[in-house]
Amino acid sequence: MQLHSGKSLTTIIALSLLVQTTVGNYINFADSLRSERSNEDMYDSVFDGANLIADYPSTLPSTKFEKNKEWMNVTMSEGLYLLMRGQSNELKCEASGKPAPEIYWIRGAEIQIQINKLRHITRTCYSCNRQEPDMAKVESKYIINCVSDTDAGPIHCVAISGRFIEIKSAIIKIEGPLLREGSCNIPQSPIITKFRPTLLSVQGSTIILPCDTWGNPRPQTFWQIRGDTGTTDLESNPRIKLLKDGGLLIKSLEWNDLGEYVCIANSSLGEDRAMTFVYPLKSSIQ
Ligand SMILES: *[C@@H]1O[C@H](CO)[C@@H](O)[C@H](O)[C@H]1NC(C)=O
Ligand SMILES: *[C@@H]1O[C@H](CO)[C@@H](O)[C@H](O)[C@H]1NC(C)=O
Repeated sequence: MQLHSGKSLTTIIALSLLVQTTVGNYINFADSLRSERSNEDMYDSVFDGANLIADYPSTLPSTKFEKNKEWMNVTMSEGLYLLMRGQSNELKCEASGKPAPEIYWIRGAEIQIQINKLRHITRTCYSCNRQEPDMAKVESKYIINCVSDTDAGPIHCVAISGRFIEIKSAIIKIEGPLLREGSCNIPQSPIITKFRPTLLSVQGSTIILPCDTWGNPRPQTFWQIRGDTGTTDLESNPRIKLLKDGGLLIKSLEWNDLGEYVCIANSSLGEDRAMTFVYPLKSSIQ
């Protein structure tokens, strides 16, 4: 059972205003997104991800045609979540943008300090060298397993992309009878908690496709690649490496890497899958 009371939660609004004004450099995403989008209809199809790989032209897009504009768009179901003790629930937050956004979840005390730390550790390639920024969507889930009183209170999704930062918030309220001892250690089928549905990055760059997982027992992670030539194994490509945290690293990205990268998390209880569409952009610096 979930309740979304939205705008009536003045605390949430006050908090996010505070955060946005104090963090500084906050500018209007919607406007920058609109102007970016109007010039770049093509990206809509890439972000929608519904097309076949074969539909994408091999000569486009070149970032030369792009307005070198940064943007970010974040969505989450904000408001009040009324949860029963012992149940499990997830919150989902999504961010699209350029440079590729990162998502974090924070709660507890000293929110502003936590946010400043996150800004500090989030480095995008755009600020570290002259390479054109990548563009991506990221999806993140916050799992509340076996809700208890310690889960009550505000929780914030923090999305960071270059100089942009946006906070979305929910408040968790707990109700229902107290839990019996030991009622929480139940097996849970795998859930992929973080991945990038879409990633557009310049050819030659190194990219990481995250695939964070959750479950009890802990799921195994592996990847399949669906490209022009059908499904291939990771082992056949020396530029591709499976990382310890379940992510996939692709070195010196090539046009041929265009494709759908499917992360599979499985355990004896089942599996979850998430697909990342990788689009290698042509560099305009050549
Ligand atoms: C942000 O994303 C949401 C969901 O995908 C979409 O409905 C909304 O129009 C986007 N905002 C802008 C300004 O494009
Ligand atoms: C996960 O899937 C792979 C491939 O289908 C399989 O070999 C493996 O046994 C599965 N792992 C578990 C724990 O079921």
